[in-house]
Amino acid sequence: MRLSALYEARFAETIKRTAEVADGISDLKFTDAYRVPFQYSRVVRRHLKSAAFVQSSAGVMLTDLDGNHFYDLTGSYGVNLLGNDFYKDTIARAVGRVGELGPVLGPYHPVIADNVARLKEISGLDEVSFHMSGTEAVMQAVRLARYHTQRSHLVRFCGAYHGWWGDVQPGIGNPVPARETYTLKEMSDDALRVLRTRRDVACVLINPLQALHPNAPPPTDASLVDGARSAHFDKKAYTDWLKCLRAVCTEQNIVLIFDEVFVGFRLAMGGAQEYFGTRADLVTYGKTLGGGLPVGVLCGRKHLMKRFRDDRPADICFARGTFNSHPYVMAAMNEFLRYLDTPRARETYRDLEQTWNVRARQLNERLRDEALPVEVANMSSIWTVGYLRPSRYNWMLQFYLRAELLALSWIGTGRLIFSLNYTDADFQAVADRFVAAARAMEQDGWWWHPPAATNTSIKRRVLKEMIAHRLSANGNRATAR
Ligand SMILES: Cc1ncc(COP(=O)(O)O)c(C=O)c1O
Repeated sequence: MRLSALYEARFAETIKRTAEVADGISDLKFTDAYRVPFQYSRVVRRHLKSAAFVQSSAGVMLTDLDGNHFYDLTGSYGVNLLGNDFYKDTIARAVGRVGELGPVLGPYHPVIADNVARLKEISGLDEVSFHMSGTEAVMQAVRLARYHTQRSHLVRFCGAYHGWWGDVQPGIGNPVPARETYTLKEMSDDALRVLRTRRDVACVLINPLQALHPNAPPPTDASLVDGARSAHFDKKAYTDWLKCLRAVCTEQNIVLIFDEVFVGFRLAMGGAQEYFGTRADLVTYGKTLGGGLPVGVLCGRKHLMKRFRDDRPADICFARGTFNSHPYVMAAMNEFLRYLDTPRARETYRDLEQTWNVRARQLNERLRDEALPVEVANMSSIWTVGYLRPSRYNWMLQFYLRAELLALSWIGTGRLIFSLNYTDADFQAVADRFVAAARAMEQDGWWWHPPAATNTSIKRRVLKEMIAHRLSANGNRATAR
């Protein structure tokens, strides 16, 4: 109730405006319902209301409609690599560069030529195609792999996100079964054996972000009914795995696709291929590559990118998209790519990993010193929060962090994304607030638990409560009839 009162006072205007639109925005309704484990969702929506608006950004801060200044840990879903001010400038310059042409689609603005040259260089691949989102770039990669191998199935690994297209999202969230998708266990000899023995595998999709939590789905707070969320990034082990995979794909003529929509440009200038020292046949990029505008890009080997056969004119592999190669997007992309060539960019990438590893270590030391049951794990500037005590309420931390003016995306503490313009002083401020939030949560008693409780016993109990709830709801419905 203390926290609830604080929200009502501190975020009053932002909450009011959110409530006014909430009923008409499907995305907001969904994220609001799934921000926390479902069984707590209704009570949270009543007492810790969503505040979905911000009015401005500057440096590493976001300002809401009440004038609160938040540190931005949302990273705009990963788009914000270099700081919001960078993208504002990029977009403004892009508008200036292609303004004379305007939003003409079909014929290209000449700026596209430099993008293609730079992307070929960065990816080490021969051809490029432009799309409007990461999801579409992945769709096209898989379609081309199927076309050229004349095999039906794609392989993805447990938990990996590749956008919301049906074939890469079997199971929950997709009302139609994905019949031509195999989901295999990552970093496993069994998976390699499957690839060696099956004859219908066209391609293997890798999302290198999974290296932080192999075989687990993106860590949202919605699944946090206990404390069992673990993450640990082992660069050497993942590098070894990718090399094995590369070898098997080469041996079996399976197309290896790196989906770098999230991690491309974040781990290294040359993306995951450079960072893990392994080459793919097709690579998808997106997010930050658009210079702040929506984009998806596919780079690939020449023979795989071809969409027709010289000897069979009717046998084509179709791909279009009204807004692909939009002049404004191409110009913003060009600003982003040209920035990578500057000494300032090279300086940013130097010691990048080390900087973020040290920061994570320092925060963990502070949490440990205060005996707070939380820790962070990171893959460079992508972080996730882990919980050391079995508790039904670990998901509450996202609300304490918000109270300390740390802005998270709707999946909560599962993913914190830093932009690379965070200075040491900015980071110290975030660390102070993070520790203060965890301390407040401890003091408010959310980490109390019966001494015998384990993650398993909590999960079992929550499950029983859910079943009981479902049965009583069914019973009530039957009586009403
Ligand atoms: C690895 C990966 N692939 C594909 C996508 C889909 O990109 P978009 O949201 O632009 O469609 C995402 C988005 O988060 C992603 O992280």
